[in-house]
Amino acid sequence: MSSYLVTGASRGLGFEFLRQLSNDPASTVIGFSRNKKATEEKVKAELNRENVHIVEADPSDYAALKRAVEETSRLTGGTLDYIIANAALVSEYSEFKSIGTLGEDPEILEKDIHDSIQTNVLGTIHLFNLFIPLLRKGSAKKAIAISTGMADVELIRNYDVGIAGPYALSKAALNVAVAKFSAQYRKEGILFMSISPGFVDTGKTPQPTEEELKGIQAMGAAFATYAPNFTGPISSEESAKAVLSVIKKASVENGDGGSFVSHFGDKQWL
Ligand SMILES: NC(=O)c1ccc[n+]([C@@H]2O[C@H](COP(=O)([O-])OP(=O)(O)OC[C@H]3O[C@@H](n4cnc5c(N)ncnc54)[C@H](OP(=O)(O)O)[C@@H]3O)[C@@H](O)[C@H]2O)c1
Repeated sequence: MSSYLVTGASRGLGFEFLRQLSNDPASTVIGFSRNKKATEEKVKAELNRENVHIVEADPSDYAALKRAVEETSRLTGGTLDYIIANAALVSEYSEFKSIGTLGEDPEILEKDIHDSIQTNVLGTIHLFNLFIPLLRKGSAKKAIAISTGMADVELIRNYDVGIAGPYALSKAALNVAVAKFSAQYRKEGILFMSISPGFVDTGKTPQPTEEELKGIQAMGAAFATYAPNFTGPISSEESAKAVLSVIKKASVENGDGGSFVSHFGDKQWL
């Protein structure tokens, strides 16, 4: 019997993690969401399983996060086996823009970087810190941050991936935070790891301008060179399945602590 926490549970990959993890009725699966009521309704309508619990939590609000961890502790009896820190702000600005903003308002760029760091980096750091006492008492002791291949410096520089500036910046900082947690807690047997889920179709329909579309097309061409067999985004189902398989195989003993890998378990991002 294992216990899991998934953040950002309302939609996309987060909801899919809830679905796959709760397939085993012996597992306890807790989803954090900024809108508990709506997510509970969705869980009831689409899963209707007694082993799924939704807790209200906003990664950018420390006090709310602390209350959510206390509520989780009551649900699990003070322990936790796995954390999947999936929640993230993928800002509209980041979808199409880099960080070179010649001629644009620097305040907009600055706000976007702040917001991305607040949710994606600080939110996950606080989450991990608050859950350390529960992880220590858990049996699996695995804390996973969902990252992105877009934060891989080698990919960025070899293929001139300009777009997704603030978002990629925040995920790269997240990867370092994960490695730091690993450095601190590896000796206690707690695994910290960053995993990219691949390029996933979660049903969002971005509306780029003509200029932004050119950037996306350039990225598409770069991706075709990078991964000639890549045929397009994978489904949430396929991605979550692959990520869960990487999590299952990973261990401190195998040297996975602090690593940053893809849903294939290596550095192939697509
Ligand atoms: N989709 C992809 O192709 C892809 C590629 C690489 C990496 N990723 C990563 O995979 C994870 C899940 O991605 P996704 O595509 O499923 O994303 P998504 O549909 O945008 O969902 C992200 C979740 O994060 C939570 N969240 C918390 N604070 C938020 C904020 N300020 N703004 C927006 N959402 C916020 C939301 O959950 P609540 O509303 O329940 O709080 C939301 O359901 C993210 O960490 C993302 O960076 C995705």
